[in-house]
Amino acid sequence: MQKKIHDYPGKKVVVTYDSKRCIHAAECVRGLPGVFDPDRTPWIQPDNADSDAVSEVISRCPTGALQIDRRDDGGSEPALGPNTVLVIKDGPLYVRGTIELVNPDGSVLSKETRVALCRCGLSSNKPLCDNSHRNGFEDPGSLGTGGFGSSEANLHDDELRITLARNGPLLCAGPVEIVDADGTNRRSGGKTALCRCGASRNKPFCDGSHREIGFSTDPV
Ligand code: SF4
Ligand code: FES
Repeated sequence: MQKKIHDYPGKKVVVTYDSKRCIHAAECVRGLPGVFDPDRTPWIQPDNADSDAVSEVISRCPTGALQIDRRDDGGSEPALGPNTVLVIKDGPLYVRGTIELVNPDGSVLSKETRVALCRCGLSSNKPLCDNSHRNGFEDPGSLGTGGFGSSEANLHDDELRITLARNGPLLCAGPVEIVDADGTNRRSGGKTALCRCGASRNKPFCDGSHREIGFSTDPV
């Protein structure tokens, strides 16, 4: 996973920004324009708002591009809540909660609280979204049929492990709720495979189409 991280220190907090993760969803700019202003240098000025407000807006950043390190006694981000996967219309999967991304060989790639995962198959920064879906990926973000395996994963803890299958789907194990783009339909369980090749006819779930299209997760 590529990183390009910048620090923005304030008196009470340090905000970090990973430009390789940002897909310009602009939650930050809408939430606190006095702190996050892309037309200004530096574009993040943490002292222009209360630390709790900065922390709350950062917790809305769906990609994890923004993180906060508090130097006051305010604790970390607001509580994570249950693990959720929000299916974005014509876009990525926004995953939130206690997340572990796992390489195909079983080694841990990263621990996450917020991450946007590519589901169009086109990102050159897999497994992260890099906005390549804007090159024609279309999907309404509804929930296909089925999705969860009958044998549940070991739900002994709260963590959602997502194994990045080589040339295949996102293998999810752990408690998770999948939410459609409208927020009206939800399905939960402990074991599922989510399409990341863009070709499934049962999105967001994998239906094996990655084999038909010769999907490759190797860097290009
Ligand atoms: S909220 Fe996160 S992903 Fe969206 S523009 Fe701000 S930093 Fe980028
Ligand atoms: S990853 Fe897309 S169908 Fe399996």
